[in-house]
Amino acid sequence: MSNTQTTNTIEQQTFFDVIRERRSVRTYDPSVQISREEMNEILEQATLAPSSSNLQPWRFLVIDTPELKQKLLPIAFNQQQVVDASAVIAVLGDVESYKKAEKIYGQAVESGFMPEDTAKSFIERTVGTYSSLPPEVARQIVYTDGGLISMQLMLVARARGYDTVPMGGYDKTKFVEAFGISEQYESVMLIAIGKAMKPGHPTTRLPIEDVAFFNEMPSV
Ligand SMILES: Cc1cc2nc3c(=O)[nH]c(=O)nc-3n(C[C@H](O)[C@H](O)[C@H](O)COP(=O)(O)O)c2cc1C
Repeated sequence: MSNTQTTNTIEQQTFFDVIRERRSVRTYDPSVQISREEMNEILEQATLAPSSSNLQPWRFLVIDTPELKQKLLPIAFNQQQVVDASAVIAVLGDVESYKKAEKIYGQAVESGFMPEDTAKSFIERTVGTYSSLPPEVARQIVYTDGGLISMQLMLVARARGYDTVPMGGYDKTKFVEAFGISEQYESVMLIAIGKAMKPGHPTTRLPIEDVAFFNEMPSV
């Protein structure tokens, strides 16, 4: 069977449609639910994102019950999408993700992608490096990886007909306290996901010459 024949309907939009049509949506249809099965598929596809040493430090706390969404509402400064979206996904970064290095590189060996002795030395090196990073460096790494997974998640959602809005507007201290999130996890951002009741408003972008430079940064 050719690739075209195996492509199903959700994948028929081009990648460029998906990136063009993604917009931050803040008004959601509260009757729409996303099944656990589909949510897991969305997250699984998002996790194809790259990460530092492939340690995949992202963790997701999916908040999809009315009670917990209500609890989150004041913490997210009463942004209505928190309660009306199908779910709010808290993207967290595990600063101890190196503890899964053995599992990750073990999988690579099992899949035949890496010889066992290479994996062994990767694990030793990775655990050694990441476990002794200064805390602010470890945090910066999970923020970078957390940004990449968040973007990928929002594009996967759009390709499946869902809308999203990334949210940094919430009280992190109150959030981790209210949801029992330990210091092992950095809260990167919240992403509301659901079906738009009103489209997101159009936004503009800076002209490319304001943001892209070749070989040399302009003098300030
Ligand atoms: C890190 C981050 C935090 C954001 N926080 C919020 C937020 O708390 N509430 C909100 O309504 N939009 C939030 N946004 C959405 C931005 O306002 C939006 O992405 C931007 O205006 C561009 O619009 P577009 O996403 O529709 O292209 C956030 C975006 C990012 C990347």
